[in-house]
Amino acid sequence: MNILILGGGGREHALAWAVMQNPKCDKLIVAPGNAGIAQIATCASLEIDNGGAVVRFCDEEAIDFVIIGPEAPLAAGVADRLREAGFHVFGPSQAAARLEASKHFTKEICDAANAPTAGYAHFTDAEAAKAYIRAQGAPIVVKADGLAAGKGVIVAMDEATALEAVDDMFGGGFGDAGAEVVIEEFMQGEEASFFLLCDGQTVLPIGTAQDHKRVGEGDTGLNTGGMGAYSPAPVLSPEVAQRALDEIIQPTMDEMARRGMPYQGVLYAGLMIENGAPRLVEYNVRFGDPECQVLMMRLGAQALDLMLAAAEGRLYKEQVNWAEDHAMTVVMAAKGYPGAYDKGSVIQGLESLPATSSQMVFHAGTKEVDGQITASGGRVLNVTARGDTLADAQARAYEMVDAIDWPEGFCRRDIGWRAL
Ligand code: AMP
Ligand code: GLY
Repeated sequence: MNILILGGGGREHALAWAVMQNPKCDKLIVAPGNAGIAQIATCASLEIDNGGAVVRFCDEEAIDFVIIGPEAPLAAGVADRLREAGFHVFGPSQAAARLEASKHFTKEICDAANAPTAGYAHFTDAEAAKAYIRAQGAPIVVKADGLAAGKGVIVAMDEATALEAVDDMFGGGFGDAGAEVVIEEFMQGEEASFFLLCDGQTVLPIGTAQDHKRVGEGDTGLNTGGMGAYSPAPVLSPEVAQRALDEIIQPTMDEMARRGMPYQGVLYAGLMIENGAPRLVEYNVRFGDPECQVLMMRLGAQALDLMLAAAEGRLYKEQVNWAEDHAMTVVMAAKGYPGAYDKGSVIQGLESLPATSSQMVFHAGTKEVDGQITASGGRVLNVTARGDTLADAQARAYEMVDAIDWPEGFCRRDIGWRAL
C-alpha cells in the first residue's frame, strides 16, 4: 500500500522508520520530511494544514493511508477532508482534536465522564480570573485555553506570578489561544505519559513513557519541547495504567462517542500519579515528540498494523506484542535552545553509526546542504536505543551521542535519571 505521513520532525522520522519495516508498505512519502527521513522515504513539499491540498496530493500519488503526525493539521480539519474524500486516515477529526486544542473543552469532558483531574475554573475576563486566584492562593496553574505550542501553561508557585500570567494571556501574549483562560488546582505527584490507540470505540494501550522537559541536567532551567524520553515509565505500573484506563481514558472515549465525535487515532494522556492514583493533566491528540521515538523503537513494524486497525475500526481484534525491553532517546539540540540558536552548522560522524532495530538516530531538524547534514532547528537529532534494561538502552544511546561530531550542539547527560 502507498502511505503518506504528514510532518517533518523526529516523531515523523520514527513513524516512517517503523512503517518502512512492514512489508505492507510499498511506497512511503513524508511531507515535508527532513534530511534523515529522505534517507528512507520520499520527501515532498506540501501545505500540510490545507485539507484540499492534501486530498489533491493523495489523489495524484494514489495514496491509500495517511498518518497525521502533528496537531496543527488535525486542529485544521485535515483528517475530516481526507475521510470525506474516501481515504483511510490515522488521526482524529477536527471536533475530536479539541481534546488538545481547547483546555476548557477537555475539562468539560472530564466533568461529564467523571474522570479525575485538577479542580478548575474558566474565565473570559481578567478581573474575574484574578479575583479567583486571590481567593484560591498559590501554588496554582494558569493555562491559555488554545494551542500555544507548549507555552500556554504557567505553573505559578506564588500569587504574583499567577496574576501576571493572567494579564499576559488576556493582554494577547499568547494570541487567540489566550482569549479564554483555565485556572487549575496545582497537582502534586510524578508525571508520566500513557499512549493509547482508539478507533472510536475500542481503546488499546500501546505504551508508556516519561520525558524530560527542562533544558538542564537534574531537570532544571527553561522548559523545552522535551530533551529526552524513555519507555516504559516505571511509575505507570500495570495497576496504575489499568486505573487510568478504567477511570479516565475509557470514560473520555465513551463521552466523545456519546457526543457524536468518536475519537480515532492516538491519544496521549499526560497523567499525574500520586500514591498510585492517576489524575489527568492534559490530553494530546498525537504522539509525543520525542516520546514517539521510543515507542516506535519498541513496537517496530507492528505499529503500521495497529494504526491501520485504528483507522479502519477493527482494534478489537488487535493486540500488541510486547518485548520486555526498554528504550531511551537523547535529544541533541543546537546550543542556545530553547532560546536563540544558529542554524546551518554541519553535523559529522552520522554515517558510521548503527541503523538497526535497536539503535537509530532519528532526525528532528536537519537539512542536507551540498551533501552534508546540517542543523535546521532547535531540537536536531534524537539518538535512540533499546536494551534489556533501561541502563543498557542508556549506555547504547550515549555511545552513539559520543560518536557524533557536532561542536555546535549539546545534550543532557542524565536522561532517565529518575528511573535509574
Ligand atoms: P500541559 O501543557 O497541560 O501538559 O502543561 C505543561 C506542564 O505543566 C505539565 O506537563 C505539568 O508539568 C504542568 N502542569 C499542568 N497542569 C498542572 C497542574 N494542574 N498541576 C501541576 N502541574 C501542572
Ligand atoms: N514531548 C512533549 C510533547 O510532545 O508534547
